[in-house]
Amino acid sequence: MTKGNPSSLPLPDAAAVRASAALCRLIADEIDGAGGWIPFSRFMELALYAPGLGYYSGGAHKFGPGGDFVTAPELTPLFARTLAAQAAQLLAESSPEIIEAGAGSGALAAELLLALESRDALPERYRILELSGELRQRQEETLRSRAPHLASRVEWLERLPQRCSGLVLGNEVLDAMPVALVAWQAEGIFERGVRLSEAGGFILADRPAKGALLAAAARLPVRAPYLSEIGLAARAWVAEWGRILERGALLLLDYGFPRHEYYLPERDCGTLMCHHRHHSHDDPLWLPGLSDITAHVDFTSIAEAGFDAGLDVLGYTGQAQFLLNCGITEALAQLQSDGERAYLAAAKDVGKLISPAEMGELFKVIALGRGIETPLLGFSRGDRVVTL
Ligand SMILES: C[S@@+](CC[C@H](N)C(=O)[O-])C[C@H]1O[C@@H](n2cnc3c(N)ncnc32)[C@H](O)[C@@H]1O
Repeated sequence: MTKGNPSSLPLPDAAAVRASAALCRLIADEIDGAGGWIPFSRFMELALYAPGLGYYSGGAHKFGPGGDFVTAPELTPLFARTLAAQAAQLLAESSPEIIEAGAGSGALAAELLLALESRDALPERYRILELSGELRQRQEETLRSRAPHLASRVEWLERLPQRCSGLVLGNEVLDAMPVALVAWQAEGIFERGVRLSEAGGFILADRPAKGALLAAAARLPVRAPYLSEIGLAARAWVAEWGRILERGALLLLDYGFPRHEYYLPERDCGTLMCHHRHHSHDDPLWLPGLSDITAHVDFTSIAEAGFDAGLDVLGYTGQAQFLLNCGITEALAQLQSDGERAYLAAAKDVGKLISPAEMGELFKVIALGRGIETPLLGFSRGDRVVTL
């Protein structure tokens, strides 16, 4: 992954530029309709999820080597095989059902089902909650090709269910939820939004923050001038699960920090980042719909949202510790019989998942649940306690 400004990005093709122009018209209409300004969180929501045009709901390839970024389940099936150990324990303690939110290409669903089958712990149903019709199609194809005999267990949800029990899983979902951009200034706290420039493009513009956002921003111990994000949508989403989940757990993996590390004085430009074809850049207004826009997760706020909604915080740790506790090295060792070359390639991928310099420490795992009494495998051992 290389980082730069948009002028160093690979040029998109004409079809992609046309799709972005159509999305820009839609966003501009919404800005006009709203009186000349929309919050950044709404801009991000449209840029990622506007039907047929947003980054996740349009035709961009997104995942894997030919896409914009590689996630853990895309990197190696060992990620899913290792998660299966934790999933099996939770299903046995609650109900044999999994709901995966934001299933991407469907790689995690396919490999997790196969791994649970080999553990004799298949869920009766595997439901996928996906905002993007394009991704749903891709998930169907992945399941048909990688786990055809299990594909009939998979259903897609249009919206959150009324009630559920079992495991609710989300890998890199919270970071893809819209965030508010907040500017703390000597004059007060402002919400950053988007308006049209004289030339008809988009520019960022601040307005005094109000309501729930102002209350959340005022509670943070930051000193002006400071710019960062507040993920109210992710908090609301977790709180909804607190209402829905009868017995079981929410297992969320993502990159981020506890609050005391998130809002450090030196992180005064926030964590917002964009990805386009394995380049990262920092301009969310660049050709909307063609880049992923993400922000790191404030895990303290996620834990609080769950706790306030009646869920127990069952565990929180770094991804490396979680995967080691769930047996990733044992899963890797099983590949030794596949030949040296395959084993070494898999070992390199596992290294990426657990190395502190790569995904091992920046990525965290949090489990929030109800009615789960047994300590969870993934959080059973830790050389260091990761505190919220
Ligand atoms: C970065 S991708 C991760 C995909 C996949 N989990 C993986 O690890 O490869 C983010 C995913 O989250 C989904 N997403 C974002 N907000 C969501 C929500 N509120 N409900 C369900 N899915 C959501 C997106 O549509 C997309 O599939």
